[in-house]
Amino acid sequence: MSERNLTPWTVLRDGSRLIWRFIKMHPAAFAVAVFGAAMFAGAIIAAALIIGWITDNVIIPVLDESQEPDLLMTAAAAIVLVSVFKAVGIVLRRTAAGWLSFATRRDVRNELLAQQLSLKMSWFNRQAIGDLLAVADSDVNQGTDVLGPLPYATGVSMLLVGTITMISIIDPWLGVGAVIGLVVVIVIDVRGSWVTYEMWEEVQRRIGKVSSIAHESFDGALTVKSLGRERYVSSRFTMASDALRDSTIKVNSTWTKYQVIIRALPQLLIVLLLVVGAARIDAGAVTAGNVVTVAYLLSLLAFPIQLIGFVLWDLSGSLAGWQRVQAVFDADDHIEYGEELAVAGGAAGVRGSSVDFAYDREQVLSGLDLRIRAGTTLAVVGATASGKSTLCLLLARLWDPASGSIELEGRDLQAFAGSELPKEVSYVAQNTFLFDTTVRSNITLDEPFTEAEIATATGLAGATSFIEELPHGLDTELGERGTTLSGGQRQRLALARALIRKPRLMVLDDATSAVDPSVEVEILKALKCAELPSTIVVVAYRPSSIRLADEVVFLNEKRIIAHGSHTELLDISSAYANLVSAYEEEARRLRGASS
Ligand SMILES: Nc1ncnc2c1ncn2[C@@H]1O[C@H](COP(=O)(O)OP(=O)(O)OP(=O)(O)O)[C@@H](O)[C@H]1O
Ligand SMILES: [Mg+2]
Repeated sequence: MSERNLTPWTVLRDGSRLIWRFIKMHPAAFAVAVFGAAMFAGAIIAAALIIGWITDNVIIPVLDESQEPDLLMTAAAAIVLVSVFKAVGIVLRRTAAGWLSFATRRDVRNELLAQQLSLKMSWFNRQAIGDLLAVADSDVNQGTDVLGPLPYATGVSMLLVGTITMISIIDPWLGVGAVIGLVVVIVIDVRGSWVTYEMWEEVQRRIGKVSSIAHESFDGALTVKSLGRERYVSSRFTMASDALRDSTIKVNSTWTKYQVIIRALPQLLIVLLLVVGAARIDAGAVTAGNVVTVAYLLSLLAFPIQLIGFVLWDLSGSLAGWQRVQAVFDADDHIEYGEELAVAGGAAGVRGSSVDFAYDREQVLSGLDLRIRAGTTLAVVGATASGKSTLCLLLARLWDPASGSIELEGRDLQAFAGSELPKEVSYVAQNTFLFDTTVRSNITLDEPFTEAEIATATGLAGATSFIEELPHGLDTELGERGTTLSGGQRQRLALARALIRKPRLMVLDDATSAVDPSVEVEILKALKCAELPSTIVVVAYRPSSIRLADEVVFLNEKRIIAHGSHTELLDISSAYANLVSAYEEEARRLRGASS
């Protein structure tokens, strides 16, 4: 936080803004909760007055003169009425405050997801998934925690104002004393919340770290186990959670010290009042009864003062949590869209001109020019890390080139309106993502495709027979990320999902690597002969697949160094010939190993 000049004032100012942001989201719920708290505060004052009245008018006459307690029923009714009033106040406040908290959290999470999905891949590239989970979960909770005590504190602040007014009416000097005492308490509260603010930031950062390590170790469970690194991973986790424990204890113990002072202060104030009050009685300014009343009123203040403390305490925690939520809201790497609408139709041609691209500093593609004729199949070949996957991502506009342009049938990819480009371009990666739902929903993504369309897509993707063998066919539920299927089965579902949308351009980044070579060839052949043909770009490693392509581009030195048919490339590029013979060698070795 070194770049920000943090003062108690900034914590208060930023905190008030945060609270105001939340209240604006659900003003009615907040108003009802405060009203409930005010009813409660009113009931406490009324109860004090009624008990005084009962003492004077019911109890003392009965004791003194053995008089019939004819006022007893009235007194009982008054007490019942006040109790009911208080109960209604409590129910109103608790219900509305609970609703306020949960509705705010829900809204913030919805906003957060919408914001994240509108951001570019470059933003996601910089985030740790565990950290994002912590933001959506613990930071949102922590950020909105201040809403818990807020309505109560606002409501009982009225009690505070009422009490101080009453004290001032009894004796102005005692009123001044009470105000000074109150200011001291609030200054200590503000200081406490300022001091703990940075500690809270550390706590939230460490929660993010714990969540990241947890996420990594669940996600990489297979790797961890296969390498026997369970002890390493759990010691890393233990270190992170120990650090979290330490910072949480630190922030709590610091706050406790402030709490001790804050709890003791109203009692000290009462002692002080008795000393000052005695002098005022001597001076004939007030009566003994007045001092007793004021002492009672001061004891009533202890509670609201504590609640204000709770709000300030939660405020610093909320600000620290919210800061991480706000960082996501502040991200402005939004994907920019144009107005172009998708059109249905057959295969589309592609033209890339002078495309430069870098993920961060290092250039991956430089001055790349590419032309793909509509309806052809283009194989992208290149050594590891030559930029094949990058090119695929650019063709589907999952990243944007730093300069240069990519056009689909003469329309720049960036000119398409939101959600329009995926109707014309389908991208399938090697690592396919499946949703935790049925096979059918994974293919249709809940769009209204007919059974015949589903059958065609699964047929082209070579997925029909294994789907039929699943316990409930298309309606079989897949586990999270489709873990119940094999790699090849998952890839075929992903292919079917792409095909059913009849894309004009299909980009397959090693998307059939997990199926048998003969099945891969079958699939690629089927794609070429599909009833509604697409232009196909395929990152291929198997010579059998490369040979199937109409044209091949060879990526090297950040650009396409050769473009032609497979046989032409073998002639003109020795680097290409070497790479393909290495692939052939590998394919032979694998065949040998499996036979
Ligand atoms: N998300 C990313 N962030 C930063 N750098 C990346 C990212 N993805 C790839 N790179 C870098 O970009 C370069 C090209 O990577 P790319 O994945 O396009 O290669 P590839 O040709 O598909 O390799 P492979 O054959 O191994 O799949 C590599 O140097 C890689 O380190
Ligand atoms: Mg790749």
